[in-house]
Amino acid sequence: MGSVTRNKWYKYVFLKRYGPLARYLPKTRMMSLHSFRALLGKYGHVIVKPVWGSRGRGVIQVSKLGHHKYGIHYENRQKVKRGKKNTYRYLRKKIGSTPYMVQKRITRPTIDNRPFDMRVIVQRKRHSSHWVVTGKVIKVAGKGYIVSNNTRSKGQLHKFKSGIRKSSIRHLSVSDLESKIDKVSIRSAKRLGALFPHHRIYGMDIATNQKGRVAIIETNLYPAMSHFRKLNDRELYNRIMSYKRG
Ligand SMILES: Nc1ncnc2c1ncn2[C@@H]1O[C@H](COP(=O)(O)OP(=O)(O)O)[C@@H](O)[C@H]1O
Ligand SMILES: [Mg+2]
Repeated sequence: MGSVTRNKWYKYVFLKRYGPLARYLPKTRMMSLHSFRALLGKYGHVIVKPVWGSRGRGVIQVSKLGHHKYGIHYENRQKVKRGKKNTYRYLRKKIGSTPYMVQKRITRPTIDNRPFDMRVIVQRKRHSSHWVVTGKVIKVAGKGYIVSNNTRSKGQLHKFKSGIRKSSIRHLSVSDLESKIDKVSIRSAKRLGALFPHHRIYGMDIATNQKGRVAIIETNLYPAMSHFRKLNDRELYNRIMSYKRG
């Protein structure tokens, strides 16, 4: 069922096993009562998402509220359940037998009180082994949403530097942050090359926390161009398209 290229669990395990990248991958397990309990207990907030998902479909945040209560945030709706096991049962009913994973929630910085993460495009030209970050965009979740997927959440897009300067991490050095993000993205692309030797483009979903610590949320083999097409400035879009041809 489905292909390895879109299997989030497979790509997670592959990158997690690679020493230099392991620390950038938030702890993730296949969804079960046991793993759900363990991760929610340990981190207080988890993201529950489909192994074969895309565009933010089916992504659910679960948060420990105290007094045995748990908050469930799905799309732009929130619910409260009592007890971990009861919360798990509720989620199971919702997701059925669809393969799901449970992941540590990264507490992302915000712009106008809405969390954001980034899409980083990494490419190489034909017959070249030199990977380059050709585009980076900040994706802000739309009002009331957890996911930053632009269409689903009706969110906002910003160019990297101007977005960071407007954000709750504007006190961090933009160039330090950018070089960390680029390094992790390029390493991921190189590593994924061992699985997909002919592939020339990746779209990494990268998040940071409020301290600027970098995390790899997921890696996409077929990244949308729409993020870059929608920016007023077409420079990044043109660069990405020219790399695609090259
Ligand atoms: N562990 C996480 N911590 C914080 N936000 C997350 C996490 N996982 C996913 N998200 C949010 O949900 C979005 C969709 O999840 P993602 O894993 O990228 O799946 P999809 O294939 O649906 O895009 C991400 O872009 C991010 O905004
Ligand atoms: Mg994504």
